[in-house]
Amino acid sequence: RAGSKILGALALLLAGAAHAEDGYRLWLRAAVATPAAATITLRGDTRTLALARHELAASLPAGANVTLATSADPAVAALKLPFAPLGDEGYLIRPVTLNGQPTVLVAGNSDRGALYGAFALLRHLATGGTLATATLTSAPKVKLRVLNHWDNLDETVERGYAGDSLWDWWTLLDRIDPRYTDYARANASIGINGTVLNNVNAKADSLTPRYIAKAAALADVFRPWGIKVYLSARFSAPIELGGLKTADPRDRQVAAWWKAKADEIYRAIPDFGGFLVKANSEGQPGPRDYGASHADGANMLAAAVKPHGGIVMWRAFVYADTDPSDRAKQAYTEFKPLDGTFADNVLVQVKNGAIDFQPREPFHPLFGAMPKTPLMMEFQITKEYLGFATHLAYLGPLFQETLASATGRGKETVATVVDGSSEGHRLTGMAGVANIGRDRDWSGSTFNQANWYVFGRMAWDPTLTAEPIAREWAQQTFGTDARVVDTAVTMMMGSREAVVDYTGPLGLAHLMATGHHYGPGPWVDDLKRPEWNPAYYHKADRQGIGFDRTKSGSDAIAQYASPIAKRLADPGTTPERELLWFHHVAWDRKMPSGRTLWEDLVAHYDRGVAYVGNMRSQWDGVRTLVDTERWQKTATYLAVQEREARWWRDASLTYWMSLNGRPLPASVAAPE
Ligand code: GCU
Repeated sequence: RAGSKILGALALLLAGAAHAEDGYRLWLRAAVATPAAATITLRGDTRTLALARHELAASLPAGANVTLATSADPAVAALKLPFAPLGDEGYLIRPVTLNGQPTVLVAGNSDRGALYGAFALLRHLATGGTLATATLTSAPKVKLRVLNHWDNLDETVERGYAGDSLWDWWTLLDRIDPRYTDYARANASIGINGTVLNNVNAKADSLTPRYIAKAAALADVFRPWGIKVYLSARFSAPIELGGLKTADPRDRQVAAWWKAKADEIYRAIPDFGGFLVKANSEGQPGPRDYGASHADGANMLAAAVKPHGGIVMWRAFVYADTDPSDRAKQAYTEFKPLDGTFADNVLVQVKNGAIDFQPREPFHPLFGAMPKTPLMMEFQITKEYLGFATHLAYLGPLFQETLASATGRGKETVATVVDGSSEGHRLTGMAGVANIGRDRDWSGSTFNQANWYVFGRMAWDPTLTAEPIAREWAQQTFGTDARVVDTAVTMMMGSREAVVDYTGPLGLAHLMATGHHYGPGPWVDDLKRPEWNPAYYHKADRQGIGFDRTKSGSDAIAQYASPIAKRLADPGTTPERELLWFHHVAWDRKMPSGRTLWEDLVAHYDRGVAYVGNMRSQWDGVRTLVDTERWQKTATYLAVQEREARWWRDASLTYWMSLNGRPLPASVAAPE
């Protein structure tokens, strides 16, 4: 007896070791003890349906009866279910009777729809639903749901904080790392259907036959998961690779070179998605080098991929030294006049805000300003300005805040621009700069995985909100114990605001240290280009602080539709959270709180630090309820975050005090 007890304990230990919670399994951890005890029928014979079955087999409870199918199956078609609204990728899940047998039908118009349905069913079950209540329907509101990897061919990742690139270009082709499949599976589970493999600061080499073959190998792995491969294209590649004298998009030889290049790529990757281009920005080559426009450049590339069904995602993130007075105005100034001149397979990809992925930015004024052009949203999932991988900041509220912003044109919001419903665009997209690397937990920390997750869910439906997504992520990631889930969700929901508070509250932005962008540097004022300097953004002096973007300043607010511009013209009607983004305000201005701006500012910095302290004690409270490995790493990072939140606060306040000569408000503790 004693022996069998010991054996039993040993078996448990071993099982535990096999499931060491290092975060590798992401939110996909709901496996049952005895897989394959369920009955899963496939109506159709495709690799994608087989993958869907495999997913269900690992997680469905014993006795479950599920049928995976497409609407093309005659028996399914005979049920006359509402398949039409599902489009190419939507799914429906229903209890039905097929061939006299009760079963839960998981189906779409395509096998990809059925695969998304399988993942939706698993999500439903992992978040407390039952098979009996599994009646679900959903179709993506956005067509291209794409990760942008800023991955270099030398396997480093620009602004990547989770290890080297997943793509092992060195061994690729010969070795197909099983991790590529795990990556595709994770993406499919949240509806992501495209991936740009290489950095927007692209090297021409990625378009050479060697790298095309490697990209094709990845595309082969991703295809059954419904994921297309795209490449960032270096605009000057015809010179670097083709030996041409120019990359002028109006040159016939240049256009012919790109056409031949596209044909070559499509021979290797028949369903290649298309190109992403960063042109004439931060030193990248582009059509403007030749006096041609962004539309000339985009349309020339679009013509090359068009015969194959490809598209071009042309980024609006441009800033050059053409108008150093206000960097925030440049994208609008250059792109707005081009509305209506882009080919029908071009999307213009616009960052959520007009500067650069700051912890808070007002929505980019291009949204709503180019009705004739599909505008693709670009969010940054990797937290370049929100504490890299170490700080806990859930980005759901940031995404939601941007997407829900009214553009001032009727009922239009940024979400209705992005999902095409405002203007009836069919080609629509959302891009997220990935936070994925070779770390065991993919994203550098457990909570960073939530940012990948929420991006996928909101790309599928930009009207979804941050809190329920945080909840479903936490349930799938930590299990359904309400104490853990509630704690995680509470911590997450205020975490981004805390970062805003301790790095740059009330509309301040771009105050970080130079180059690496980690930690405070509001005092920096000696960099070559004016708009690289934090001082350019805060404009603080003895009297006040903030960037005047009204008529008396850069007049950037004129780029918004008039109801919005009117509201922003007056500091009294500007949302307080954006005050110093749009106005230069006296330190002594009376705020709605009854305090002065200076006192409010200090209170915000303090609140941010306190929030992190609170997260630490909340996380301490679930210590025994979360596996040691993930609990400890999170706890360690929270301690780092608290120390660095203080660093941000104390350094920033000390600097502001050196300018405004004011003492710390009495109610606030002196910086430690
Ligand atoms: C930011 C970031 C760069 C990146 C650029 C872009 O400026 O710091 O690393 O290349 O955005 O989006 O192109």
